Amino acid sequence: MTTTTTGTTTGGTAVRAVGTAHSRVEGRDKVTGAARYAAEIPFTELAYGWLVLSTVTRGRISSVEDAPVLAMPGVLAVLHHGNAPRVDIDYVGMLGMRPDPTVAVFQHDRVPHAGWPVALVVAETSEQAREAAEALVVHYEEEPHDVAFSAGHADAYSMPGPAGPGVTGKGDLEAQLAASSFVLDAEYSTPEEHHNPMEPHAATAHWDGGRLEVVDSNQGTIWVAAELASLFSLDPASVHVRSEHVGGGFGSKGVRAHQVAAVMAATVLSRPVRVAMTRRQMFSLAGYRSPTTQRVRLGVDAAGRLLALEHSCLSLTSTVHEFIESGAGPARVMYDAPAHHTANRVVRLDVPSPTFMRAPGEAPGSFALESALDELAEKSGIDPIELRVRNEPEVGPVSGLPFSSRNLTACFREGARRFGWADRDPRPGLRREGRWLLGTGTAAASFFAGAAPSTAAATAEADGTFTVRINAADIGTGARTALTLVAADALQVPTDRVRVRIGDSDFGPAMIAGGSMGTRSWAWAVTAAAEELRERMALSDGIPPEGITVRSDTTAAVGALAQKERHSFGAQFAEVAVDVATGEVRVRRMLGIFAAGKIVNPLTARGQFTGGMIWGISMALHEEAVRDRNTGALYGADLAGYHVASNADVPLVEADWVDDPDPDDPVGIKGIGEIGIVGAAAAIANAVWHATGVRHRQLPIRPDRVIRADAHA
Ligand code: MOS
Repeated sequence: MTTTTTGTTTGGTAVRAVGTAHSRVEGRDKVTGAARYAAEIPFTELAYGWLVLSTVTRGRISSVEDAPVLAMPGVLAVLHHGNAPRVDIDYVGMLGMRPDPTVAVFQHDRVPHAGWPVALVVAETSEQAREAAEALVVHYEEEPHDVAFSAGHADAYSMPGPAGPGVTGKGDLEAQLAASSFVLDAEYSTPEEHHNPMEPHAATAHWDGGRLEVVDSNQGTIWVAAELASLFSLDPASVHVRSEHVGGGFGSKGVRAHQVAAVMAATVLSRPVRVAMTRRQMFSLAGYRSPTTQRVRLGVDAAGRLLALEHSCLSLTSTVHEFIESGAGPARVMYDAPAHHTANRVVRLDVPSPTFMRAPGEAPGSFALESALDELAEKSGIDPIELRVRNEPEVGPVSGLPFSSRNLTACFREGARRFGWADRDPRPGLRREGRWLLGTGTAAASFFAGAAPSTAAATAEADGTFTVRINAADIGTGARTALTLVAADALQVPTDRVRVRIGDSDFGPAMIAGGSMGTRSWAWAVTAAAEELRERMALSDGIPPEGITVRSDTTAAVGALAQKERHSFGAQFAEVAVDVATGEVRVRRMLGIFAAGKIVNPLTARGQFTGGMIWGISMALHEEAVRDRNTGALYGADLAGYHVASNADVPLVEADWVDDPDPDDPVGIKGIGEIGIVGAAAAIANAVWHATGVRHRQLPIRPDRVIRADAHA
């Protein structure tokens, strides 16, 4: 390539890569196997750690019989509470939360739940480590446990969470319900659900010249680096975490037991140690979505305007960590009423700690709220879309703040047109095709659209290419590709002259891939750096051999954003076929129309939306982790026992979007990572009601539930 100077970035028409479909820049590497995931990166002198998890649910470790295991072939060490390095968990982490003590492995003899890490066996090979780990005998003093989650648990308490305060309330609920023309009062439940990304959690740690080097699979290297520094009382600058390719995260890939165990073993053995979770271990170590029980009460006047709204959600957490699944969150954004009350409550049980899982709060909360709206539409004889349109709020129902943009009605109008909603007979149980009863349903979706401070660096190289460095994480979303398009446009060059490097904590602070905030936050920093680089290049006389580098930091700009309700919105549509004799439910088609800001890369964005919607099918019909009350452990903790939607379950799923400009926002992007699952399960459940005339308020809608419900109908 010829050396070019400032002339290449000026004088032409804008390239505008943003908004055009672009296959993943690392796609070829991924499909040819050239892209290496965390557990595939070679190290010399690598040793392998295998975690040993508790087989009891509550109690104390009375002894670890490590001597026989240490004599086994290749075994280098057995770490446990009696000999492991000490860590400090008395700090508040990156997300403003104390770390889940599951990461503080081998610090004491207490076992707070089944599948708690009790030892790490390290050996020369993975096979030797596994064999020795399975041979390790651990003795426990068992104590009685309580893993039974149910509505009305006596120990429930409210706490704040990602959706704000634990409890919100205004107006006299009982009075408004009494004044309502139609009232709905129903309880809904969702089961324990697991995210289990295809690539299991894996980390390799080693010390290199006084610096802790960790190669990992995570949603934010700065997050993991900062927490490891706190845990091991290290200078943050002496911890370096890399995570180049990530095979899925969904909220599960933060700091976890595997990284901490790997660092401990690397410290003790003074050589690189890799710890990867097995699929089964992920069911207690990777976090999961709490089950919920939810009660929704709604009252409308004769014109279908809400007078009363109450949504309360109970979830569980472990005895060692507080995490709340804020199912009542969506009600704080979606609908207003003179009497409006929401509550998120939690109960502590002897179970593993739940965590963020795609659309935390919104996914189960929208199932209850959007099912309830559909039930209210049925009771009041108002079309479900019309009922929602009549209840579009002017301002945030709880915050009172204006919406930055709210194009929910546009989503419903466009979705209704394309789905053929106008031809729908609202009466249930009328359409039949052979053994199948057919029905259609709809539901609304929303998800918080935030931005967080990030830093980026953009370099004009002497060869005419550009390198952007930002500590982003591409967890399979296409973020690296999206940022390439954003950078190319900001630099006004074709995308093939831009290289985006991500997943390295040495690149400086940046938002994690979480909260649907990654691409928006990173794009802001990349745009700022790229624009300033263009200005610098315009003033410079050629590019020196080391290039020209400009750094950005969006802390001030993000902090200056006006306080508003900022959300993506969407309308979900589903058609189902139900065989009430066998209980089989087949989703026949789905359509999601979203208002989610500027869409950077339509190809990967469509995959994000439809991926979420397909997860909604899975949530509606398949996913359910069942905990044995006697043992306190899960039945079938693997992907054979834990059912997820597979190809044969997934019909034509279409996603599209409407224009959704945000005038205040320089990047105009909203998050799209999570909204696809929101409302999807409700749309399916509402379609099942339309097909059969029977409401399913308990997920998943299993064949046995369909059969039993039909028998009672
Ligand atoms: Mo997402 S559940 O914030 O990774």
